[in-house]
Amino acid sequence: MAVIWIPRALALVLLLSSRSNVSGEGSWCYDRAECGPSTWSTREYCNGKRQSPIDIQSGKAVRNSRLEAITLTGYDDNKKLLEAKNTGKTVDFELGEGLRLSGRGLPAPYAAKSFHLHWGNGDSKPGSEHYIDNRRYSMELHIVHTKNNMSMSDALKDPEGIAVLGFFIEGSRMAREKTAEAWEALTKNLKKVSEKGKDVHLDSSISLLDLLGSPDLTRYYRYPGSLTTPNCNEVVIWTIFPDPILVPPKVVAAFPSELYSTDSSSGPHLENNFRPLQPIGARKVEASASMRAPRSAASLVSPSKPFLLFLFVTTLRPFFPE
Ligand SMILES: *[C@@H]1O[C@H](CO)[C@@H](O)[C@H](O)[C@H]1NC(C)=O
Ligand SMILES: [Zn+2]
Repeated sequence: MAVIWIPRALALVLLLSSRSNVSGEGSWCYDRAECGPSTWSTREYCNGKRQSPIDIQSGKAVRNSRLEAITLTGYDDNKKLLEAKNTGKTVDFELGEGLRLSGRGLPAPYAAKSFHLHWGNGDSKPGSEHYIDNRRYSMELHIVHTKNNMSMSDALKDPEGIAVLGFFIEGSRMAREKTAEAWEALTKNLKKVSEKGKDVHLDSSISLLDLLGSPDLTRYYRYPGSLTTPNCNEVVIWTIFPDPILVPPKVVAAFPSELYSTDSSSGPHLENNFRPLQPIGARKVEASASMRAPRSAASLVSPSKPFLLFLFVTTLRPFFPE
């Protein structure tokens, strides 16, 4: 009897564990060896060839003069931040109807659904997911949109189903007053969702644009990538803005100190919720029309100087008597 029953019990355990993997809701984590990012490659798409985040090398980005300013509609409406929820992996802010993103290089208008953040550990450890020229920032804001307002589950099946706007956030005493006020109003809610599973209805007082400050919507990088959490679906058109939003340092400190990753306030703090860099592979990052790449322009000129001098010398040589 035992010989028959043990394999059956095993089969049941395997069946149950593979089911929880397929949903993506399963047992992945950031902070423990058994479920952290190095184990994600076994999940659905996480081992694919267009994964995110990446380190954007400005000198290798291909400038596309067609990539003009993106258009944001409804982002200035201060009635659209509906709810904040601690998911145990981030704090997710649900957005109301009518926020739209469109622009060159996007195949359709996209509707904003939610935004969330990734962070490290306050001042001591930056936690943006993307890097620019090997540099990482304190936090990264992701505004998630679906193509033609499709449902999230449909968007996950379309290679261009999701468009994410990524903004870096940096703690600074130079933060503009209005931007600082908006972020302070937002972070006041963190205490109310400190444990996993808690949510809070937001009072209508700030808009997404208040949080973005005065972003230069003409300056960005664009590349095809994935969700940065399991199942890492390769369905995202990324738009990354290189100029960070400056917020008061206490805002950056609030996220890891006031949020917990379990339903207990004695449990671990919710911190370092970023995925490590992924290989860029054969992909090209595009730079928008108004991105000047001072570093790449400089690197094109300076290595060629000795070369020009060499040409000059070699062409002059025949005129000198031996
Ligand atoms: C967008 O999708 C949501 C959720 O599926 C739906 O309630 C809403 O009516 C849609 N909006 C438009 C403008 O189609
Ligand atoms: Zn994200």
